[in-house]
This record gives sequence, structure tokens and C-alpha cells, in this order.
Amino acid sequence: APKAFIAPSILSADFSKLGKECSDTIERGADWLHIDIMDGHFVPNITFGHPVVTKIRPHVGRPKEANGKGTFDCHMMVSEPKVWVKEFQKAGCDLYCFHYEAAIDSTAAESAEVKSDKKTNPKEMIKYIHDNGMRAGIAIKPGTDVDVLYDIFDNSNKEEVPEMALVMTVEPGFGGQKFMAEMMPKVQALRKRYPELNIEVDGGLSEKTIDTAADAGANVIVAGSAVFGASDPSQVIAKLREAVDS
Ligand code: DX5
Ligand code: ZN
Repeated sequence: APKAFIAPSILSADFSKLGKECSDTIERGADWLHIDIMDGHFVPNITFGHPVVTKIRPHVGRPKEANGKGTFDCHMMVSEPKVWVKEFQKAGCDLYCFHYEAAIDSTAAESAEVKSDKKTNPKEMIKYIHDNGMRAGIAIKPGTDVDVLYDIFDNSNKEEVPEMALVMTVEPGFGGQKFMAEMMPKVQALRKRYPELNIEVDGGLSEKTIDTAADAGANVIVAGSAVFGASDPSQVIAKLREAVDS
């Protein structure tokens, strides 16, 4: 399996000093920053949009290579993922991770409520993200079967293949929820089929749950409350890494 990338979720940071929280987190050993974007529609919560990403970008050195330190991993919990691609690229997003469910729903929505320029499907989304100079990720909610991703990752057209799969280990929307170990068969299935794929887990990761996720084959580890709620965040980051890399 590929090496660990530890991606603290800034959802649990102190928003009143977000730039410093971001730079401190990278100094404390984080590889990436996981940036949770919620629109109050795809999930029952609102966070922030691209103007905030623009403001924090200068506080964190830009990654010099794919997967490099300082990667902005934007988790788009939004109903219209296509609409935000260009704005997030301009804001400094490196990896644009959209939800499979959102891309499918807007395809299915034949009603006039979804304007044609907002409709999309997963393959088109991935190509569009690549065309806009970012890496692409695809996320699945707990209720979505992992099988839906096989068609996407088995595609021989590399422009349509994402660089990461995100298996949600909580219902998206809030930090501080309980880790769903019953999602691990999805991670195992992906790891078996795609030995080199970056597989991210998000929700409820901590020193208590990391071994379960690492054993299943996850290598990109999101942790919000476990990192930002710790008295020694560096130590938590180091322990998460050790569990994956050992
Ligand atoms: C939940 C978000 C997560 C969240 C994780 O919808 O996608 O990234 O911040 O928080 P913890 O690690 O506290 O479960
Ligand atoms: Zn997230």
C-alpha cells in the first residue's frame, strides 16, 4: 500500500485564527489539510466557501509535487460539484474531491430545476477537474456501495480516472462522530483491487480507531477532533502515521 498521508480536518480548528491554525498544523507534521466544504443542502450543515480557501492558501506552502506536503484536499459536500471547480482551482485547491452521490443525482435530475450546465456525471466531473489542473477524488457516503467505484477506476481513459477514493466512515456533515467500522469491507475491497490507490477515510479517526482503518488498507487519514482537540497534536499526527506506515 502507498505511504501515509495525514490530513487533519480544519473543520475542528479555531476559525477565528484559521491561517495560523493551518500553518501550525503543517509544522506539527501534517502532510495535507483536509478542507470540508458544506453547502447546507448536500449535508445539513454549512461551513465556508472558496473565499476562505483563498485567504488561508498563503499561510501554507504550496506542494511541489503530487501528494506533496501542503496539499489542499477539498472535500466538496455540495449538491452541485461542477459549479465550484474553477473557483476552487483559483483559490488554491490541489485535490478536488466530490461526492459520487451528488454527481449522480444531478444527472438523474431531468427536471428543469437543475440547469443543464450544472448537470454532470462522475466521469465528466473527473475529466473537468483534471482539465482545470487539479487532482480528482471521489467520495462515497456510508449508504453507497463500493462497487459503483469499479467502473470509474477500471476506466482505461486516464483523464477520467481519479487519484483518490474517499470512503466516508461517518455520515457527512459534522465532526466528532463515531467511527463506523462496518465501512472497512469497502476499504479492503478497494485496496485488494487497486494496490497503489490513495484510499482516504474520513470520520471518527483517532488513536483508538486508526489500527482498524490501517489494517483494512486506508493510507490517507483525515482527523478533525482527534488532532485539534489534542493537547499535543504533533503526537497524534505521528501516531496516526506510524499505524499506517508500520
Ligand atoms: C464530516 C467531515 C469530516 C470531519 C471529521 O462530514 O467530512 O472531515 O471533519 O471530523 P472528525 O475527525 O472529528 O470525525
Ligand atoms: Zn471531510
